[in-house]
Amino acid sequence: MSLINELESLVGELEQNLARAVSLAELEELKTAFLGRKGRLAALMGKLKDLDAGARPAFGQKANEIKQLLTAFVEARLQDFKRKREKESLLTFDPTLPGRLPWQGSAHPVTLVMDEICGIFERLGYDTVSGPEVETDFHNFEALNFPPDHPARDMQDTLYVSDGIVLRTHTSPMQVRAMLARKKPPVAVIAPGKVYRRDSDLTHTPMFHQIEGLLVDKNISLADLRGTLTYMARSLFGQSVRVRFRPSFFPFTEPSAEVDISCIMCGGKGYIRSKSGREACRVCKTTGWLEILGSGMVDPNVFKAVGFDPECTGFAFGLGVERVAMLKYGIGDLRMFFDNDLKFLQQFA
Ligand code: DAH
Repeated sequence: MSLINELESLVGELEQNLARAVSLAELEELKTAFLGRKGRLAALMGKLKDLDAGARPAFGQKANEIKQLLTAFVEARLQDFKRKREKESLLTFDPTLPGRLPWQGSAHPVTLVMDEICGIFERLGYDTVSGPEVETDFHNFEALNFPPDHPARDMQDTLYVSDGIVLRTHTSPMQVRAMLARKKPPVAVIAPGKVYRRDSDLTHTPMFHQIEGLLVDKNISLADLRGTLTYMARSLFGQSVRVRFRPSFFPFTEPSAEVDISCIMCGGKGYIRSKSGREACRVCKTTGWLEILGSGMVDPNVFKAVGFDPECTGFAFGLGVERVAMLKYGIGDLRMFFDNDLKFLQQFA
C-alpha cells in the first residue's frame, strides 16, 4: 500500500473507532493514538524523508488534508459527548435540594411599631389615615387652639417653609383634617406619620414619627380615653403593665393628661436586683414610670374651628413612635433608627 493510501485509510479507521467509543476517556485515547505526537499520523509523516524529493510536496499536502479531517472528526465526536453529558447532568439535577434563599429585607422597627399600633386601633374600628407633612399654620396651630403667641410656634421649634406654611411639628393637624373631611361625628381615626422640629441632640432628631388618635362621638368621656389607652398599652407591652394618667396641658385638649406605663425594665420598682444588692434602674431613673404619650378630651375650641358642634365629645392622643420602639425593643440610642446599619436592622427580620 502506498503511503498516500495508508494516510487515506486512517480516516476510515478512525471513523470506525470513533463510532464504537462509549466514553469521553476513550475519545481522548483515540485522539492521542491518531493525532498525538507519537500517533499514527505522526508515524506516517515521519516517512516523508524516505520519499523522493519530487513526491514529497504532494504527500505533505495530503498529510495536512488528512490531519484536518481527522481533527474535525474527533472534535465533532467530542462535542457530541459533551452535549450528551450536559443533558444528563440536567436530568440528574435534584429539585428537592434546598434553594439558595434570596436576600430579604425587613420592616424598620419604627414601621413595625406603627403597624402594630395602627392594627390595635383598626381592630377597635378606627380608620388609619394620612396627610401632608407640609402643613398650613391653620391646621398645625390655629385650629388646634394655639394662641398666636404660643411658644410652640417659635422659630426654635418650628421649621417654616414660607409664611404660614410649616413642616408639621406634630400629627395633631390630622385631627383637624379628619374632622373637616368627615364633616360630622362619629370620627374614629388613627394617623401615623413623620413630624419635624428644629431640634437635634442625643435624644432629639429633626424628624421623628408620631401616631395621632382621635375619637369623636356622643357621650365620649375620660373613662373611654382611659380604657382605650390602657387597652393599647397592655396590647403593646403586656397585660401586666400598669398605666397612670397625670394631669398635663395641651392647647387642644381640656382636661389633658400624660400617660405613663410601669417601667418595663424594673417592673415599676425603680431598682433592679443585682449581685451587689440593688441597682438604680437606668430606664425609668428610679421613678418606676415611663411616659409614653399625651392625651386629653378634645377642647370645644377645636370643634368650633372645624365647624363641629362645640357640645360634641371626644378624646385625642399623640404618641412618639421612636420612644415606644426604644422601650419595646430595648434600644438605648435614638440614632440607631436613622443610621441604617444593616446589622441593627436585620435583627427585626
Ligand atoms: N401633639 C402633641 C405633641 O406633639 C401630643 C399630643 C398631646 C397629641 C395630647 C394629642 C393630645 O392628641 O391629645 O407633643
